[in-house]
Amino acid sequence: MIADCQKTLKIASLELANPLVLAPLSGISDLPFRLLAKEQGCALVCTEMTSAEGIIRNWKATERLLRSCPEERPLAVQIFGSRPEAMAEAAKIVEGYGADLVDINMGCPVRKVVRGGSGAALLRDVERAKEIIQAVRKAISLPLTIKIRSGWDEKSMNFLEMARMAEGCGVNALTVHGRTRTQGYAVKADWEVIARVKARLRIPVIGNGDLTSPSAIPQFFRQTGCDGAMIGRGALGNPWIFRQALNMLQSKPPAEPSLEEKEALILRHLRMVVEMRGEDHGLKEFRKHLIWYTRGLRGNAQFRSQIPLWKSFSEVVGRIQEYFQNFKSSYLFS
Ligand SMILES: Cc1cc2nc3c(=O)[nH]c(=O)nc-3n(C[C@H](O)[C@H](O)[C@H](O)COP(=O)(O)O)c2cc1C
Repeated sequence: MIADCQKTLKIASLELANPLVLAPLSGISDLPFRLLAKEQGCALVCTEMTSAEGIIRNWKATERLLRSCPEERPLAVQIFGSRPEAMAEAAKIVEGYGADLVDINMGCPVRKVVRGGSGAALLRDVERAKEIIQAVRKAISLPLTIKIRSGWDEKSMNFLEMARMAEGCGVNALTVHGRTRTQGYAVKADWEVIARVKARLRIPVIGNGDLTSPSAIPQFFRQTGCDGAMIGRGALGNPWIFRQALNMLQSKPPAEPSLEEKEALILRHLRMVVEMRGEDHGLKEFRKHLIWYTRGLRGNAQFRSQIPLWKSFSEVVGRIQEYFQNFKSSYLFS
């Protein structure tokens, strides 16, 4: 159906080198995480969801979430909110800040967000969703995208209604996560839903959900005909997934990272996080990444159990080096 190799993605004026997009991940997709994804070939990175009200009223607290640098560009900034005027104002600020694309979150299932009428709540209030899109569209000239789920629950799978409405309001591309709000992650993402959206729209469609291994990506493009693929959990502790997926799209072997490459990237990631957040916050922040990076590695249980005890940057560096050293020697001598 699709010539996977050399596939690119164009969202209005934004020409992307390939169709792979990093998902917005709250509490995770900060600048260091995005930079590493970018280095490994991801064409478009996205900030975590950022409150429109926060952008307007509390820029100091919000600025950290939006901190960027030229090397990661193009950058998508995702905003959420329920008031059209606030969303428009926030989008304008984000445009002035230098973002390359604004994405509107219409899928977040978190109770606090939904209770405020934002995120997935907008799937149940199409009229409000439309007002928000129209207001933001009028406010900015940047490419505009929205990210939706297949519906609120199985009884209200209104993804086609939402998608058509968004296209009619001048949205330039749409991301569909093939699950409802109530499904959580318990159910497999429904790629048929994604394929149906793709078949109906003229604007590019980016599919999302369970693209957790490089080999899933070519299969996903064949099955859905999508223009882009968004990777979320598959990138946790594994930024190489982008390189591997691109290789597979070109019918090349995926190229596993060597232990040396893993170690070097982990240390660099750690340094970037500590530089950005300071030693105290940075080390705490990095714990979860260390857990993800060591997933599936031999001897990881012992290593992981020690992580909360490490108090300084140099200690963490030493422990990581020691772990990989042991790992390499046991490889040689086993
Ligand atoms: C920890 C976590 C945080 C997330 N934060 C956001 C977010 O800020 N904005 C958003 O649109 N989706 C968010 N999502 C959903 C992901 O972007 C993505 O749609 C979902 O994980 C499915 O993709 P995957 O199967 O590749 O992980 C989050 C998911 C996780 C697991």
